[in-house]
Amino acid sequence: MAKTFFITTAIDYTNAAPHIGHAYEKILADVLARYHRLKGEPVFFLTGVDQHGQKVQQTAQKQGVAPAEFARNVTCSFIDLWEKLGLSHDAWAATTEPLHKRVVQNILQQLFDAGEIYKDSYAGFYSVRQEQFLTDKERGPDGEFGPEWGEVQEITEENYYFRLAKHRDWLLQYIESHPEYVTPAFRQTELRNAVERITGDLCISRPKTRLEWGIELPFDAGYVTYVWFDALINYISFSGYWKGAEPHNAEFDSRWPALHVIGKDILVPAHGVYWPIMLHAAGFTDAEIPPLLVHGYINSGGTKISKSLGNIVDPGLLADKYGAGALRYYLMRDTVTGQDMEFSEDRLVVRYNTDLANDLGNLLNRTLNMAQRYRSGVLKRPAAGTEWLAQTRSIAAQYAAKMDQYQVHAALETAFGLAARCNAYIETQAPWKLAKDPALAEQLDTVLYHLAETLRILAILISPVLPEAARGMAGQLNVNAEPRLADALLAEAALPEGHVLGSPTPLFPRVETGTKE
Ligand code: ME8
Ligand code: MG
Repeated sequence: MAKTFFITTAIDYTNAAPHIGHAYEKILADVLARYHRLKGEPVFFLTGVDQHGQKVQQTAQKQGVAPAEFARNVTCSFIDLWEKLGLSHDAWAATTEPLHKRVVQNILQQLFDAGEIYKDSYAGFYSVRQEQFLTDKERGPDGEFGPEWGEVQEITEENYYFRLAKHRDWLLQYIESHPEYVTPAFRQTELRNAVERITGDLCISRPKTRLEWGIELPFDAGYVTYVWFDALINYISFSGYWKGAEPHNAEFDSRWPALHVIGKDILVPAHGVYWPIMLHAAGFTDAEIPPLLVHGYINSGGTKISKSLGNIVDPGLLADKYGAGALRYYLMRDTVTGQDMEFSEDRLVVRYNTDLANDLGNLLNRTLNMAQRYRSGVLKRPAAGTEWLAQTRSIAAQYAAKMDQYQVHAALETAFGLAARCNAYIETQAPWKLAKDPALAEQLDTVLYHLAETLRILAILISPVLPEAARGMAGQLNVNAEPRLADALLAEAALPEGHVLGSPTPLFPRVETGTKE
C-alpha cells in the first residue's frame, strides 16, 4: 500500500481573525491535497489552531473572558471561514485537546528522562508590563530600555531547557545531505546559515506565576510548556502518534512524514531548527524528518498585513462578494510559490473576468452551443488519434509535472493555455462556416470533438483549485465520474462515439466593474 500523501499547515494563532495571508496558506495546502487525491493517492490533510501561550492569555484578559472561552470563539471563526473557502482537510488540530496534551507530556517526559531537558537558572532584565525577558535588542540608542517596557527588573528565574546546541552538527549534516528538505532551495541556504549560528539551548518552560495558559510540565507542576514546543507537536499528535501505549503504530507510520506548508516567518527557528531537533532527540530517524514547503507573504498596500496598520484583508468578505472559486483561483494563479505577492482586489476581478469568465466560461458555452445547434449535442469520435489530441495530452502532462513541484501558478498557466488554444482553434476553424458546407461535415465533427475532449480534460485539471466549477463543467459535458488525473493523461480520447453533451449554463458570470478592460 502506497504511503499517504500527508500535508499539514502551520496552525494559526487564535489571537486574531484569519486574514488573506492565512487563507492563502490553507488554500495552497488544500489545492495540493486535492491534487494528490486526483492522482489516486491516499491523502491526509491536517490543519488547525494554536490555542495556548501568552498572547492568547493576554488578549483574553483584555476582553475579560477566560482564555479557554476566548480560544473557542476565535476557533469558530476559523472553522467557518475554512468551510466557506472550500477546504477539504481530513483532521483538525486544536492544541487544547486532551489527546494533544497527552502526547506533549509524553514527549516532555521522554526527553527529560533521556537527559535532553535540564533545569537551569537565568538572570536577566524582565519587563513586568510586557511580561517578558528583554535582551540587548530591546535597548534604545541610549542603551536604556524605553518607557514602553514599563518597570524593568533584574530577576533570576529557574526554567527548563532543551538541549538544542548538542544536536547542531547533526542538523547541519542532515541539511547538507538532504537538498530536498526545504523548498524553495534558497530557503535551505537561509536555514543552514541560521543553524550555524546556534549557540545556546531552548527554554521550554514558563513559570505558572507568569503564564498559566499552557500545558503543564509532567515533571514539574510549577511550569507550563513554551507555546512553540507545544504547538509543533500538533503535527504528530493529530496524525496518530502515541495513540495507544506505544508512540508508533501502523496508522501513524503510513502517514508520516508530512509535507509541512508554512510561511517564511516561521522557518527559522521554529520549523527549521526546533522541530527537526525535537524529533531527532525523540528518536525519529533522518527518513522521518518532515520536508518543508515555505511560502511567501501576501502583502497589502505595499507592506506586511497587520492589525495595527489597519490593512487587514478579510477573505470571507471577498468570498461573499466574488465566490470562493474566484478568490482561490486568484491567489493560486497570481502567486509564485515561495515568493511574496501584493494583494489587489482589482487584479482579482481582472483574473476572474479574463481567465474564468472569458477564456474558460465562454469556451464551454460556445462549444456546447455549437454542438447543440449543429449536432444536437451528439459527438462523433475520430477514427484514429489526432495530432491535436496528442498535444492536449502533452500539455496535461506538463501541468502535472508543475503540480508535482508545487508550482500551482505555472500549472494553472499551462492548463489555461489549453483554453486559449481552443479559443484560437475556434477562430481558425470557424465551425459556423464548416456547418454550411455538407462536404465539411467530418471536419466539423472533429473540431467539436476536439473541443469537448479538451474541455473534459480541463475540468479535471482545474478541479484542485476550482472544485465546484469543475463539477459544473463536467456536469454540462455529461461526464459525471469522480475526476482522476489519469483520465486527463489517457493515451486515447475518452469521450465515446455518440456521447451526448449537455446544454450550457454560465459558470462564471462576469463581474461588472464599470471600467472597460
Ligand atoms: O505562526 N501571508 O501562527 P500565525 C502569507 N501559530 N502567510 C501568512 C501571512 C501573510 N501575510 N501572515 C501569516 C503562527 N501567514 C503559529 C504557527 S505551527 C506549529 C504554529 C502564515 O497565525 C504564517 O507564515 O502567525 C504561518 O505559516 C501561518 O500563516 C500562521 O501564522
Ligand atoms: Mg505569525
